Amino acid sequence: MYPQLLIDLEKLNQNLETLSRLAKEGDCSLMIVTKSFCADTRIVDEILEHDAVEYLADSRIRNIASYADRAHIAGKETVLLRLPMVSEVEEVVRFADLSLNSEIETIRLLDREATRQNKTHKVLLMIDLGDLREGLFFRDEEAIMAVCDEILKMRHIRLFGIGTNLTCYGAIIPKSDNLEQLVRLTKRIQSRFSTTMTMVSGGNSSSVYLIPKKQLPRGINNLRLGEAFILGNETAYTSRIPGTHNDAVLLRAQIIECKEKPSLPIGEVGVDAFGEVPHYEDKGVITRAILAVGKQDTDPGGLTPLDAETEILGGSSDHLLVHVKSGTYRIGDTMDFRVDYGAFLKLFTSPYVARTYR
Ligand SMILES: Cc1ncc(COP(=O)(O)O)c(C=O)c1O
Repeated sequence: MYPQLLIDLEKLNQNLETLSRLAKEGDCSLMIVTKSFCADTRIVDEILEHDAVEYLADSRIRNIASYADRAHIAGKETVLLRLPMVSEVEEVVRFADLSLNSEIETIRLLDREATRQNKTHKVLLMIDLGDLREGLFFRDEEAIMAVCDEILKMRHIRLFGIGTNLTCYGAIIPKSDNLEQLVRLTKRIQSRFSTTMTMVSGGNSSSVYLIPKKQLPRGINNLRLGEAFILGNETAYTSRIPGTHNDAVLLRAQIIECKEKPSLPIGEVGVDAFGEVPHYEDKGVITRAILAVGKQDTDPGGLTPLDAETEILGGSSDHLLVHVKSGTYRIGDTMDFRVDYGAFLKLFTSPYVARTYR
C-alpha cells in the first residue's frame, strides 16, 4: 500500500549507537524522544533493546501509555515531555515516571494524584533560559527557590532535577554561557536545600554540537534527543551528526498520472487550495508526474527526491507534483524521498501512510 514509509531499523540502531557514544563523551544520560514517530511499536522496541538509553520520552501521554509496561520491563523510565494538562494528571502519574513541569499548581495536583495511586512521581523543573517557551524564568531566582521549597515538602513528588529547552520557540542556541546558568541554579538549589539534583537536563538535539567541541558545561548530565535520533541532525546549526544516517526513514509514493504539459498554468491566476498565490517558472513543456500523497499526509516542501533528475513542483491536499527532467516513469511506478523533520512528523501522524520495516 502506498504512500509508504520505508523504515530501516538497522540504520536507526546505528544512529542510537552514535548518540550513545556522544552522550557518554558528554557525561550525559540518554533520553530518546518518541513523539515524532508516534511511538511506533517497532521503533520503540529497537530503542528498548539499547542499553545506553535510560529514558523514553514523549509529549503525548497516549504514546507513553502504549509502551510504559514494555519500557519498565526493559528497565527504562518513561517521561512526559510536555507540561501536563490538568485533565491528564491521573494518566501522567499512572504511565510516566517523570514529567517536565513549571507550574506549582499542576505539581500540587500531581502530588495529590500520586498520593491516591500510592506512588512517587518524579518532577523535572523546567527553567526558561530565554527561549521563552516553558519554564520558570531563570532570573526569578526567588520564585524558583519557592517552588523547589514547596516540592521538597511534598510526600509523593520527588524533585528529580532541573532542565531547560532551547531552540524551540525563540530559536535560541544553547551555548556554554546560557547552559552554565542551569548548572549555577542547580548548585544554588542543592546548597540552599541540602538536596541533590539527580538530573540536569541540558536540552534537545540543538545541544549535541557542544559535546565534540567540549563546550557542554560540566554538571549538565542529560540530553533529550528526538531529531538527532531519527534524522541524525544537530539542530542548533542544522548540520549532520557524523556517524548517523538521515535516510533511515524514506517516503515511497506511487505515480497516478504522468504527462507532458506546459509548466505555466493557463488562465487567470487566483489562489491555490490553501489560499496562497502560487508562482511558476516557465520551463516550456515538461513531463509532470502526479503522486498520490499530499499536504494531508506530509509537507511537500520537506521532501527531497532520491532521483536527482526529478524536482518537486508543489502539492495539494492529496497530490504531489513532480517535474521529471529525464528518465522514464510510468503509472504505478514509485518514487522515493528523503524527509525533513516537519514532513516526517506529518507522515507518521497520517493514518493514510503505511509503514514497512527492514
Ligand atoms: C521538552 C522537549 N525536549 C526535547 C525535545 C526533543 O527535541 P529534538 O527533536 O530537537 O531533539 C522536544 C521536542 O520534541 C521537547 O519538546
